[in-house]
Amino acid sequence: MKKAAVKIGAAEGAAVDPNIYGQFIEHIGRCVYDGIWVGEDSSIPNEGGIRLDTVEALRKLELPVVRWPGGCFADNYHWRDGIGPRSERPKRLNIWWDQSEGNAFGTHEFIRFCKMIGTEPYICANVGTGSPQETRDWVEYCNSSQNTTLTRERAANGDKEPFGVKFWGVGNENWGCGGRMTPESYADQYRRFATFMRQTDKDIKLIACGSNDDLTAWDEKFLNGLGALGGYSAVGLVDAIALHNYSGDRQPGLDFNEKGYYALMPAVNHMEEQIVRAIGLCRKISSEKHRVKVIMDEWGTWWSEAQVENGLLQPSTMRDAVFAALSFHMFHRHAEDVVMTNMAQTINILQALILTKGPRMWVTPTYWVYEMLRPHKGGNVVKAEVTRESVTLENGKAVPLLSASVTLRDGSYSLSLANVDANDSCEVTVSAAAQGSLAVESARVLTSGDVHDQNSPEESDKVSPRDLAAASEGNTVKAVLPPHSVAVIKLNLLSLP
Ligand code: AHR
Repeated sequence: MKKAAVKIGAAEGAAVDPNIYGQFIEHIGRCVYDGIWVGEDSSIPNEGGIRLDTVEALRKLELPVVRWPGGCFADNYHWRDGIGPRSERPKRLNIWWDQSEGNAFGTHEFIRFCKMIGTEPYICANVGTGSPQETRDWVEYCNSSQNTTLTRERAANGDKEPFGVKFWGVGNENWGCGGRMTPESYADQYRRFATFMRQTDKDIKLIACGSNDDLTAWDEKFLNGLGALGGYSAVGLVDAIALHNYSGDRQPGLDFNEKGYYALMPAVNHMEEQIVRAIGLCRKISSEKHRVKVIMDEWGTWWSEAQVENGLLQPSTMRDAVFAALSFHMFHRHAEDVVMTNMAQTINILQALILTKGPRMWVTPTYWVYEMLRPHKGGNVVKAEVTRESVTLENGKAVPLLSASVTLRDGSYSLSLANVDANDSCEVTVSAAAQGSLAVESARVLTSGDVHDQNSPEESDKVSPRDLAAASEGNTVKAVLPPHSVAVIKLNLLSLP
């Protein structure tokens, strides 16, 4: 058994924005249709066409925000196709995902879904094939409370009250599927679209398309194009820049060996490098009055099983769950600047939280990471000193075998831990710099006998959390984490008599 120590420091850092635990749904494969929308006539229990089992599972996660309708789909989506009587909505070609789009799930349905699961909507607007007019109209349709033709149309379609959509993306991957633009031409488009969107509703948050991990120069060139780093500035039109970063190098998601297991973990550092680069640029252009933040609005594993032909469906194992925990720990480290992330994608796609097959539904190990790490939301990050062993990969990269993150909220610490070790358990000793004794409020762990384990309709609870024995001895707490596991321990610091 390995040994590791976590010493909780005294200084409190920035609060973890709850939106770091956001999600993303796109019209691909069976994410929206099947995963969310089954139609009112379906034998699958639903409310107004939205299936109730996935809603119930998502409600439990208290997801803060969900991004829609894409992804690549967004820059070929015209919002008017998805309003009005469903029987009259047009059928379009979903060009990126090789499907026909019946438009049954449009703006009203999305907003209803968000209300049902208790989340904020985040809409990604169409820059690639759309116009500033179409986009500012969408903002007016959703958010205006004035008496206009568009707001009367919204009311006629069932929603008198404005939707109050706060987060608006200005295009998606406009360096790629969103129009193969140069950063300079996107900056010009951005100025136009964002001007009219912001003027339609001054309270919205505008999110610019940022880099993916290969396009290291995009962010700087785009911001330069806005005049951010000199010249006439449109920086006030950018509230955040949204990065994309997929991990896993399109390797198999199920057929992997120990080497493949460890090889995934440095992807978190790779994602961190991209984030740190963007933070540097954003801080440089920010003023006291207007701070530009960083969002990672598409991330997660992308395995070779996920192809256009199968609607980007892939296996989801304990390896994915460990990777998710390490990623959240990294996002926490940058809590001052990273204000939202949206893992791709919620149901039946890539690193999904939920999988469905007809009327059946089950959750993945990654779902449980979202569920277990909930107490971190809104807590202040507390630096911790972690002593642990590492494993060195063939390429010389070191993978630390224990990852830890601590937050403090309402006087109690939430400590999440990932034992990355593929084979060995790890005895962790937790102590606190502050005076007092540590009392364990609760402790749970997620693991499974084999790192390849995943849930299925037949064994839906194979990978699910269980109580973890965590004993407190005065100023320390000890717990033994099984191999490839994620744990969350809630601790209270009791003052000494
Ligand atoms: O999430 C799947 C796709 O990956 C999205 O549509 C696109 O933005 C990204 O390339």
